[in-house]
Amino acid sequence: MLSAIDHVGVAVENIDAALGLYRDQLGMGLVHRETVTEQGVDAALLDVGDSHVELLAPLAPDTAVGKFLARRGAGLHHVAYRVESVQDMLDACAAAGLRLIDSQPRVGIRGSRVAFLHPASTGGVLTEIVQPAEEH
Ligand code: CO
Repeated sequence: MLSAIDHVGVAVENIDAALGLYRDQLGMGLVHRETVTEQGVDAALLDVGDSHVELLAPLAPDTAVGKFLARRGAGLHHVAYRVESVQDMLDACAAAGLRLIDSQPRVGIRGSRVAFLHPASTGGVLTEIVQPAEEH
């Protein structure tokens, strides 16, 4: 049911500073920028073939990414797998006994539908499943 690694999420202090590495030095194309208020992040999406790097900078210290930065510093935040139906995958994960952070899909970057699995049941890796919007 997992069809690809859709993106890796990287926590950064500042998107513009991080673009100096990912866009300018590594040469990835910047395809999208968005403030996702409900997740408390400023986000940027860069192309790597058919996959992406998703840069995440916190809107405030008390957001999930803000707390992550305070605890662990900048670096790899989550891995996101692409699925056709995030609801079907969530149901399958729940049936398999995995601990869910989101029992219902929520809106992610670029109009995608996403849900997170708890790292306590995924070997310490915060895991996202993502159903891209139709046009992507
Ligand atoms: Co993500």
